[in-house]
Amino acid sequence: MFSFFKKQQATKVTVAGEAATLEVPRGKTLLEAMLSEGLAMPHDCKVGSCGTCRFKLVEGKIGELSPSALVLERDALSQGYRLACQAMPRSDLVIALDAPLSRQQAVEHYTATIVATPRLCPDIINLVVELDRPMGFIPGQYADLTAPGIAEPRSYSFAFAPEAGEATRLEFHVRHVPGGLFTDWLFGAERIGQTLDLSGPYGQFRLKDSAAPMLCLAGGSGLAPIMAILQQARSLGASRPVTLLYGARTRQHLYCLNEIEALRRAWNAPFEFVPVLSEEDAGSGWTGARGLVTEPIARLADLASTEAYLCGPPAMIDAAEAQLVRHSLLPELIAADRFLDKSTKP
Ligand SMILES: Cc1cc2nc3c(=O)[nH]c(=O)nc-3n(C[C@H](O)[C@H](O)[C@H](O)COP(=O)(O)OP(=O)(O)OC[C@H]3O[C@@H](n4cnc5c(N)ncnc54)[C@H](O)[C@@H]3O)c2cc1C
Ligand code: FES
Repeated sequence: MFSFFKKQQATKVTVAGEAATLEVPRGKTLLEAMLSEGLAMPHDCKVGSCGTCRFKLVEGKIGELSPSALVLERDALSQGYRLACQAMPRSDLVIALDAPLSRQQAVEHYTATIVATPRLCPDIINLVVELDRPMGFIPGQYADLTAPGIAEPRSYSFAFAPEAGEATRLEFHVRHVPGGLFTDWLFGAERIGQTLDLSGPYGQFRLKDSAAPMLCLAGGSGLAPIMAILQQARSLGASRPVTLLYGARTRQHLYCLNEIEALRRAWNAPFEFVPVLSEEDAGSGWTGARGLVTEPIARLADLASTEAYLCGPPAMIDAAEAQLVRHSLLPELIAADRFLDKSTKP
């Protein structure tokens, strides 16, 4: 039984069937309060876009940052389902969840000092930060980073698997989005020594406990959580065949090639790496795959028992999911991490 009564001016939330109660401080969403208490409430985007954080409102009143109706079907809405990342309790609540709640690392705030920013390719750097204390996370998860003077945090996926489950030095692969507030700030001047607010860990994207072959598909800096997941699988001694499709614009934009080769050599089963270039000059001598990173999917052998791990821009993931389902992959075997930004958030 969970019981958390800490702060004043909070609303009380009871989770039906869990004997769980928690308090939601004023100004916090239901999801934020659950994650800060270490309750593993499912979530991916935190911005009312993916629908993962749905809960059933049994009793009480909420306000919504954006309407659940933008994402949830009419049927679900009429049954009382709402989005926890958009729900601001206005009274004490009773809620019900589709699956039992488990415990996880509680979301906390850390001070992160930038210690290195080596360039990985023309538009991606490895952002290395040192935290004020160790942080536990699962490969595939992400953190929210807030830079001085920029009101809203930006999300970045941990780019490696931590030894013993936690680390004080973190790495993120950050792609420069021209016109983007955070990345213009980060790429615009020397930032070593600068401190950021970092919160986390967030997200449900992670290695599943299974022996199924893995199809990993990454676009640009979407390689970061895929590398973290593959490193974790290797350290667990996985012997699952892997196909890694990696999309980049040109040969210069491919990075982590040595690390991928090291993984491939140490892997206990077949490991196929397929880099796919979308804008490589026709006369460059590149003999590898060209086009969209999703195109080779149609040429892969039977995928019926394969698990897919997809990460990168939302449009790429939507296209990959559609193609995988056409290729007989069951939707429940597809895990995806969409790198939403201001232009793709609802
Ligand atoms: C779970 C998750 C994990 C992520 N992990 C990574 C990662 O590991 N590496 C990585 O590189 N990125 C990652 N991202 C993306 C990252 O969080 C940022 O969104 C990205 O870096 C852009 O941030 P920015 O502040 O530079 O751009 P923003 O200021 O957010 O702007 C992005 C683009 O939108 C345009 N724009 C701004 N406002 C609007 C508007 N109102 N309407 C339409 N367009 C607008 C801008 O001109 C720009 O082109 C992740 C995203 C999510 C959700
Ligand atoms: S986490 Fe709430 S809709 Fe995605």
